[in-house]
Amino acid sequence: MPLPPLVPEPTHLSVLPGRFTFDATTTLKVTPGADAAADLLRTLLAPATGLALPARPDGSVVLALDRALTGLGDEGYGLTVGTEAVLLRAARPRGLLAGVQTLRQLLPVEALHPQPVPGVAWSIPCAQITDVPRFPWRGSMLDVARRFRPVSYLRRYVDLLALHKLNVLHLHLTDDQGWRMPVAALPRLTEVGGLPHGGAYTRAELTGLVAYAAERGVTVVPEIEMPGHVRAALAAYPEIGNHPGRTYEVWDRWGVCDTILGVHDGALDFCRTVLDEVMDVFPSPYVHIGGEECPTTEWHASPEARRRVAAEGLPGPDALHGWFMERVGRHLVDAGRRPLSWTENGADLPPYFTVMPWRDADHGRTAVRRGHQVVMAPHRTTYLDYPQSAGAEEPPGQAGEVVDLRAVHGNDPAPADWSAEEAARVLGSQAQLWTEYVPTAAHAEYLTFPRLCALAEVVWTGRHDWPGFRERLRHHRTRLDALGVPRRLFPTPPAAGRTRPKEESS
Ligand code: ACM
Repeated sequence: MPLPPLVPEPTHLSVLPGRFTFDATTTLKVTPGADAAADLLRTLLAPATGLALPARPDGSVVLALDRALTGLGDEGYGLTVGTEAVLLRAARPRGLLAGVQTLRQLLPVEALHPQPVPGVAWSIPCAQITDVPRFPWRGSMLDVARRFRPVSYLRRYVDLLALHKLNVLHLHLTDDQGWRMPVAALPRLTEVGGLPHGGAYTRAELTGLVAYAAERGVTVVPEIEMPGHVRAALAAYPEIGNHPGRTYEVWDRWGVCDTILGVHDGALDFCRTVLDEVMDVFPSPYVHIGGEECPTTEWHASPEARRRVAAEGLPGPDALHGWFMERVGRHLVDAGRRPLSWTENGADLPPYFTVMPWRDADHGRTAVRRGHQVVMAPHRTTYLDYPQSAGAEEPPGQAGEVVDLRAVHGNDPAPADWSAEEAARVLGSQAQLWTEYVPTAAHAEYLTFPRLCALAEVVWTGRHDWPGFRERLRHHRTRLDALGVPRRLFPTPPAAGRTRPKEESS
């Protein structure tokens, strides 16, 4: 019997004869603790199917939270589909949420349409599934600093992550070109830093987003860049910089800006004030404080920075970077959070930092050997701002690489030749969508899909079955169509010598 084309593929899946059909008489049996999964199932299925799925003590679709279940971890689930009943079980609520997404993918693709689709039999194949993710960190970073996206769009993005059992939305909230995070004590950050490229969030919007994401098993991880990539903050509060009396504009160019934070107490107080508000809004255990691409020219030239070097007994101004990250990271640790940072190999960061090696995959191994937990983000396999093919029809993107679907699928966060101890420090991996070259939401989705499906497959399954993935993706692409994810940005007219437009890589 053919296996249903699920993305990501379950750990164990067998198909049995027969089908179960959801119809107007179908009811849910919801055990204590399973209400969130019941709500999500109803929310996801209602628009296309119109099914109400009320709760009844003898409901035929059983959603069961059983904390005594072993082997499923925080996010695994078991799903048994028979002709008369469905049993979804997990040890933790997040496992049930993952199972709900599997039920949704087992249904006919019309179930994903935003509008009612009449005349469809809402049936799923009888099956036995046990499914446990390989990695606990499965995410996507969206740069909303370079291009602001309204929170309504972020909700859609969360929905697309959840469909793929991804569980982290990493929001890059601040950069040289914009500041999107409201901080009550520092209103100019969004008044001045939020202006270019369109706006800033309100605290209520972000709090609402966090709740919306949690209902779908997704954690929103905030990122505030420091000590570099801070030009928008300097435009709002120049006194946190290195040049007393100088004023700044929010940066209107792309690249690495050499204006960075000062290392005086005022700059550190600024960071702590911002992060206190960030921690109020985002319950995420992890808080990202940037850390990359920080030219130290200003610190070399600054008498104040040199005084700090002497007072702290540092070897020179370059060492202020690790000193700064430690000071701010310690503030997060004291508040019960875990600091996260971009890095090459973690060289100047304390081991209690979780790091995202973003240049070469090999740097990840150096970082774990230094004792860091890592979330792998190597640019050649996870940076979705690079074009996905070398074809002339690709819209302009980040220069330097082509990151095709196969490259993303080839991302191996903890390769087989790493020791068990090294592999145990790998939390997982995530995609990066920097948005310098991503002017619209449609463009963001064009770049994100289907490559994010490949990342989801790898981090959930830990397997690299390329032919099997490609085959399942052919069907999965029709799910993305139903959700309105664009296949191509610009219509490709049939060119001379071509019988039909070039197909996507899916
Ligand atoms: C980065 O690409 N700036 C981490």
